[in-house]
Amino acid sequence: MTTRIYVPGDAGAVALGADKVAKALADALERRGVDAQIVRNGSRGMFWLEPLVEVVTPAGRVGYGPVKARDVETLLDAGLLEGKGDALRLGDVEKIPFFAKQERFTFKRVGLTDPVSLDDYRAHGGYKGLERAIELGAAATVEEVFDSGLRGRGGAGFPTGIKWRTVAQCPPGQKYIVCNADEGDSGTFADRMIMEGDPFQLIEGMTIAGLAVGATKGYVYCRSEYPHAVVAMNRAIKVARMAGYLGRSVAGSDYAFDMEVRVGAGAYVCGEETSLLESLEGRRGLVRAKPPLPAHKGLFGKPTVINNVISLASVPFILAEGAKAYADVGFGRSRGTMPIQLAGNVKYGGLYEIAFGVTLGELVDEVGGGTFTGRPVRAVQVGGPLGAYFPRSYFDTPFDYEAFAKRDGLIGHGGIVVFDDSVDMVEQARFAMEFCAIESCGKCTPCRIGSTRGVEMLDQVIAGGAGRERALTIVEDLCHTMKLGSLCALGGFTPYPVMSAITHFPEDFGRGPAMLAAE
Ligand SMILES: Cc1cc2nc3c(=O)[nH]c(=O)nc-3n(C[C@H](O)[C@H](O)[C@H](O)COP(=O)(O)O)c2cc1C
Ligand code: SF4
Repeated sequence: MTTRIYVPGDAGAVALGADKVAKALADALERRGVDAQIVRNGSRGMFWLEPLVEVVTPAGRVGYGPVKARDVETLLDAGLLEGKGDALRLGDVEKIPFFAKQERFTFKRVGLTDPVSLDDYRAHGGYKGLERAIELGAAATVEEVFDSGLRGRGGAGFPTGIKWRTVAQCPPGQKYIVCNADEGDSGTFADRMIMEGDPFQLIEGMTIAGLAVGATKGYVYCRSEYPHAVVAMNRAIKVARMAGYLGRSVAGSDYAFDMEVRVGAGAYVCGEETSLLESLEGRRGLVRAKPPLPAHKGLFGKPTVINNVISLASVPFILAEGAKAYADVGFGRSRGTMPIQLAGNVKYGGLYEIAFGVTLGELVDEVGGGTFTGRPVRAVQVGGPLGAYFPRSYFDTPFDYEAFAKRDGLIGHGGIVVFDDSVDMVEQARFAMEFCAIESCGKCTPCRIGSTRGVEMLDQVIAGGAGRERALTIVEDLCHTMKLGSLCALGGFTPYPVMSAITHFPEDFGRGPAMLAAE
């Protein structure tokens, strides 16, 4: 019987040597005359164990990691093909606490299945959501998504059902589904993992969206830094089309839907939905003023649903299991699960999907195991480059849109970047302003000029001396202006990392008692 061996083809695992491991394995198996099939699966999301090799044995899947190419012969000699051996053997990877404690709705197949196999996708529940959507019809599908309580995972947390309703209610005619796969937030990789590890799920989610609102065409706008994801999506789209899941008659129904991938040239602001549309239409990524909302006048001036990858990839589960199954878990108005991404200076970095409500402290200290360096955690930035820096005293904050907003923070796309006690928060504040200055689309003055002045003023704060307090007062004033006067959240939210750094870590800005005493 052919032995099945899984070696992730995920870009994160590849960066850690997975391609070399796969090749070493293939060569060694050929030399040994072993009948085996190497499947390039997605990552299980435990990146400190990558490359994580899994072998299918009669007793189940047995994992080994992190495996280097040079380990392959030794592992085979020790009985890897029978799930034996001691070195690097992890046993059943689903029993590793980091994995076992998760509630995987959206990531349930990632790492488990072969991402290029439609049969595997279907064998693990794939396309059940679409079948139910076809049964329900357009209007009831929109209501199902509304009832699930799903909120956009791109950052703003806007209810997906309301967005879909708005587009569905526009007069019939050309409408579009646009998937935002720009994933620009620091420390985030959930979108990439879905596209590489379970691309059919995103295709299914977009197809359901098309059916629900009356759109026949979809685009995935993917960042150019994700070449593996682009290949995986294009390959899966082709397979889905060949199998009749895309095209004039989706799964034999009266609904038509097709889609394609477009690659962005690389700008953080092109993740902002209107700027993304400009880019998709072939222009420079300049933010559009709203109204009109993209739901009314979006791509090529037509009603358009723009959703994040995770929002759309959550939809097949909602349709297959029912809105209630999704809405039943969560916290407050944040329903369902969130794929949280732990990054930065953290011991156990990776993807952790869990119901909303878990506290920041649980995530950083327990799930993440504290810092990689072993030094105390001093700050965490949640929600990407526009997210606030939270100190340890905020570790009781539940992962929930409203709870974070109440503390002048945001959960954004679910990225957590951890810093130990060697971090200099004034440098982080300067970085936030500099990032905004570099990435600003330039359309509005508070962002374009304010961020540049912000960098200059923070340089004065860093230089110290008599002008420091005045410079800091100007930074605060600039933040106020940027927050209230910017056209989009790039300029409008940059004050969050800056002001949270000043508020929670005043000593780094020369305001703390320790620094004052030293002067
Ligand atoms: C500067 C900026 C960058 C953004 N980058 C992304 C991104 O990379 N991915 C994303 O899904 N949303 C991003 N957004 C949010 C989008 O504008 C939009 O709200 C989102 O795509 C809507 O999808 P959702 O409702 O599913 O979250 C960004 C917003 C801003 C202001
Ligand atoms: S806030 Fe910045 S990125 Fe947004 S529209 Fe204004 S200049 Fe452009």
